[in-house]
Amino acid sequence: MKLCMIGTGYVGLVSGVCFADLGNEVTCVDKDINKINLLKRGKIPIYEPGLSELVTKNYKNKRLNFSTDLKKSVKESDIIFICVGTPTKKGGSSADLSQIFNVAKEISLSINKFKIIITKSTVPVTTGDEIEKILSKRNNRKKFSVVSNPEFLREGEAIRDFIYPDRVVIGSNNKKAGKILKNLYSPLISKGASYLQTSRRAAELIKYASNAFLATKITFINEIANLCEKTGISVEDISIGMGLDKRIGSRFLRAGPAYGGSCFPKDTKAIISTADKFKTNLSVIKSVIKSNENRSKILLDRIYQILNRKVKNKKITFLGVTFKANTDDMRDSSSLKMIPSLSKKGAIITYYDPTGHKKEFVKLKNVTNKTSIREAVQGADLVIIHTEWNDFKSLNFKNLVKGKKFTIYDMRNIYSSKKISDQGFKYYSVGK
Ligand code: UDX
Repeated sequence: MKLCMIGTGYVGLVSGVCFADLGNEVTCVDKDINKINLLKRGKIPIYEPGLSELVTKNYKNKRLNFSTDLKKSVKESDIIFICVGTPTKKGGSSADLSQIFNVAKEISLSINKFKIIITKSTVPVTTGDEIEKILSKRNNRKKFSVVSNPEFLREGEAIRDFIYPDRVVIGSNNKKAGKILKNLYSPLISKGASYLQTSRRAAELIKYASNAFLATKITFINEIANLCEKTGISVEDISIGMGLDKRIGSRFLRAGPAYGGSCFPKDTKAIISTADKFKTNLSVIKSVIKSNENRSKILLDRIYQILNRKVKNKKITFLGVTFKANTDDMRDSSSLKMIPSLSKKGAIITYYDPTGHKKEFVKLKNVTNKTSIREAVQGADLVIIHTEWNDFKSLNFKNLVKGKKFTIYDMRNIYSSKKISDQGFKYYSVGK
């Protein structure tokens, strides 16, 4: 099949490369010529394990191409995936769909034969209807079909998530389009992915409802963790005990800092905004957003307690600052709330992240990036394990510093209290 991915951000690039690897001819289009030139040279604008190798392999064997020419690429393709950003509107909470509609207008000028136009970007319910209206202004409705096919890729695990998805959701009322797409995804379906064909509006909502539900699960366990801390119970025992109930399941029940990233914070807000439009009150999701926004304050307060409320001139080290491991993404990371707040209170902060220096902290007073874990923890009073990178999972803290012992606040519950105490360090974790 000839595919065109519009937008070479996270979703477009990962999906495009994986489709090429499955044997399709794929053109990834972006209006940013610098990005396209970089990609042609095998340079990847995002950090995603395994992506660079797949790009190089498929570009070399000519199944993957990059272009800035949207119209030509659309004309030459059978299936067009819209993968541009849908960020939160400035000063609001709804999704900004201007990029989606601009692309739809451009596509409408290039429909030369039957095309399937797919939104892979996360879009609010009824966006497909709007795209259809735009396209039908210039084209006969028989010449195209607008489909919703949401992505469920996690950053850092995106390639595996693409190849082994739990499910493929196709939102289409058009039989012909449904058949073609089932065929496109057949290599994944034959490996065990469930295939669901539903209405376009349902597919749009499945994406938002899934993300809001996962965000709810995390927020739920984070609040239970607060109770565990007060009652001398380990939240991990609770997660295991709850997760063994197949109706609940064990995944996304790890307590930690507030959830962050490009999806959960944005999509929970956007689904509320859509519900408002349809005069529906999603009170559970509203509470989730509030609770998650408050989470960093709770963790900061624990830091103050650990430091006996004397933060000024205390040396605090952050190990990991991204919102999760295996990504360089800082969007809505809880470190963006914690580090500025501690810096304001006079703490001296160093941080180490496997993905390097972060521009977000450049202007803050007394915040320094270090290029190794060893350097970062020297002289520290408190070491905070903020992100669960593998690099931090088997540290021998005793060997990292000679003499001076620091306190460890493990926000990802990587270590056991006993293991750390045996090395002579004071240890705190989450929900224990
Ligand atoms: C998410 C969805 O999982 C994915 O399906 C969707 O397409 C995009 O959004 P992503 O944002 O990459 O993916 O990260 P994810 O692994 O879901 O984690 C999101 C946040 O939740 C992170 O801050 C993570 O640390 C946190 N989290 C996750 C927990 O705190 N506990 C958990 O048990 C799981």
